[in-house]
Amino acid sequence: MYLTKLEERMLSGEMGEAVRIAMKLLVSVGEALGAERLVPIAHAHVSGVSYDNIGRYGLEFLESLAASGARFAVYTTFNPAGVALGVDAPINTPERVAMQARILRALVRMGARFTATCAPYRVRRPRFGEHLAWGESSAVAVANTLFGARTNREGGPVALAAAIAGRTYYWGLHLDEERVPDVRVRLQARVRSELEAGLVGFIVAKHYPSSKPYVDRFPSDERLVISLAAAGAAQGAIPMWFLEGVSPEARPPPPGAEKLEVKRDDLVAALEEVSCANPEDAEVLFLGCPHYTTADLERAATEALAALRGLKRVREVWVAAPPSSAIRLKEALLRALAGRGPRVRVLPGACVVVTDRGRLPAPIATNSVKTAIYLCKSGVPAALVGGAGALDEVKA
Ligand code: F3S
Repeated sequence: MYLTKLEERMLSGEMGEAVRIAMKLLVSVGEALGAERLVPIAHAHVSGVSYDNIGRYGLEFLESLAASGARFAVYTTFNPAGVALGVDAPINTPERVAMQARILRALVRMGARFTATCAPYRVRRPRFGEHLAWGESSAVAVANTLFGARTNREGGPVALAAAIAGRTYYWGLHLDEERVPDVRVRLQARVRSELEAGLVGFIVAKHYPSSKPYVDRFPSDERLVISLAAAGAAQGAIPMWFLEGVSPEARPPPPGAEKLEVKRDDLVAALEEVSCANPEDAEVLFLGCPHYTTADLERAATEALAALRGLKRVREVWVAAPPSSAIRLKEALLRALAGRGPRVRVLPGACVVVTDRGRLPAPIATNSVKTAIYLCKSGVPAALVGGAGALDEVKA
């Protein structure tokens, strides 16, 4: 791999041991993939920070990295935790809260912004054409699809190394020639809710798990694009969508590309396929996967009201959000649900998928296809709810 003079010095250890190790990892992975060089990045987003996932070994690794003097060279954010930050919550236990706090302290000590969110594009909006190293699959697809920024789906260690080195390997979606649609999706169902958007993502990823689909007539609502991207990355590994009239790089695939039609009956069938519980049994409704932020106040209220229709037993509505958006989201939902009964509980900086799943209520209702896919796969009964368009018409 070609390295600049500066990169050679970084790799030789002249700039410290942490930089040397980070460069060694990036160069090794890049060479294995056939990358010709590295590329400077504007923003790294580190995933894999939940104590429930990385455990004591991961915690001690991050603490020793921070103590060794490792510092992030670029703007760096990090993913949600396995506990709710700064509040009491059923998913919390004192020991896990303390361990999680140590992980987040180590990340902040190295220079990360205190974000704890899977919506880094809401913290710093990516610019068209800029290079990123992001490790959250839903955010990766949003950055490529909605902003025309360039990032591969990085593993946690690579995103961490990229943050320290300020660069990543120039390969995959960093290259013009990789940013080409390869499947044509004709959308023949109305998409007006997160549930419907997510089901489209699930259906396309089920048929073409690693594709870069072109979709005609997808709505321009940012939150619906986020739900589509999250589901496509959860069911498959779709890193980029080309949405007609929405994505800055949208263009139809070359002639001869495979075609897929998505009709409203397909959405209904997908709903049955993803859900693994009866929504009427749920006592908790979970929203905010990917995280809602203050840009979603209206959307969150609409989704909550739509999802609660027909759910008689729900006693609590849980909403995941970055800590910086938690108060305003709670206020918006309290206003929207006033007089309806369920308690609103915002989980700042948390994700129910990376928490101790034994602490989750079962079954759980959600409007997030990504959450339902992961919870059902791990044995937690979850039911999809919340259609506001095509699904309702079919069921009516
Ligand atoms: Fe975010 Fe967790 Fe969903 S990281 S995208 S809330 S599974």
